Amino acid sequence: MKITRNRRVSETAGRQSRSKFPNALYSEAGNKMIGRICGTGSFVPEKTVSNDDLAKIVDTSDEWIRERTGVARRHIAEQDTVVTMGAEASRRALENAGISPEDVDMILMATSSSNVIFPSAACSVQREIGAVHAGGLDVSAACTGFLSVYQIGQAYIQAGMAQTVLLIGAESLSRLVNWKDRSTCILFGDGAGAAVLQADESASCLQTVFHSDGRKGWTLTCDSRHKDGAKDLSGDPSTFIQMDGKEVFKFALTKVPEAVREVLEKTELSTDDISWFLLHQANIRIIEGVAKRLRLGMDRFPSNMEEYGNTSAASIPILLDEMNRSGRLERGQKVVMSGFGAGLTWGACVFEW
Ligand code: COA
Repeated sequence: MKITRNRRVSETAGRQSRSKFPNALYSEAGNKMIGRICGTGSFVPEKTVSNDDLAKIVDTSDEWIRERTGVARRHIAEQDTVVTMGAEASRRALENAGISPEDVDMILMATSSSNVIFPSAACSVQREIGAVHAGGLDVSAACTGFLSVYQIGQAYIQAGMAQTVLLIGAESLSRLVNWKDRSTCILFGDGAGAAVLQADESASCLQTVFHSDGRKGWTLTCDSRHKDGAKDLSGDPSTFIQMDGKEVFKFALTKVPEAVREVLEKTELSTDDISWFLLHQANIRIIEGVAKRLRLGMDRFPSNMEEYGNTSAASIPILLDEMNRSGRLERGQKVVMSGFGAGLTWGACVFEW
């Protein structure tokens, strides 16, 4: 019994169910079905802002920014929103997977920078791409957002509530950044990434961990009363992104290696078994520090923040798409994904590509 791609859950769930979870999907071996990523896509706005461009509006330099963060430029949305960017990334991911929008059961969208509170960005993406049979909801977990939707998507599949889940991370942080604050405006960029997760009986090796510490929430905040930051420089600074950079740096360097070790312990795998460590692209020094603490070289820690800066929930799926399309990801490889950010939130998962 092979689960047929694109078959709707309602047609398959009854036949595959056994046990008290009537809808749960099982593989032939009797293991509960898990999802495998079968397509990826991404989109970034055309406009770029270089470090030299920023040095014209705040007291900074290309050298300082590159050295402290690894960022050289970032893409900035002018007309685009998280919905238009998320929709384009989704179209590309569905095309890459060979799946029709009508066969998507669920859309899970990680974003913290939608320009409307409701309807949810996921429902607007649904409208844009014509995923007429899907349910849709947004997840707010800042830079841990894509990891969160991946975990929730897997839970939907394991519970038999969905067979094909569209995962999106999309951000327009340029709206929320105070362009007068040199300690934050240099870091962030806009963009979107998407992945199609589908129940697959041959998928294996999934473990996840997720943690929060609300007591440290003050270290990275953005008030919901924000104005359109990029356009309204006279706005109240307290309503933009505010960050204690040193605290966030320390947090990431401590918690990310812990989460990676924790998730590997659950799978009884060692770091030697992992082909790629896909970390949230916040800062090259954080990635280097995590690699060092795990006693690993940087060759298995790909990065792209030089081009995009920190795109929050979009950073991992944009990287995943680049890895997929460049052929660096090969079926059977084991991959660790780790997100961390405001909340504070952090976590990791390990899966087989
Ligand atoms: N250009 C030039 N100088 C800058 C600057 C900029 N863009 N931003 C800050 N500075 C100055 C500070 O004013 C300070 O000057 P002072 O010594 O005269 O007071 C000096 O540089 C050092 O500032 P500090 O904040 O201690 O720098 P840092 O080494 O901690 O680097 C960050 C700042 C933001 C790059 C760093 O803390 C960081 O990367 N933190 C993690 C941020 C992050 O990843 N957040 C998202 C997580 S999801």
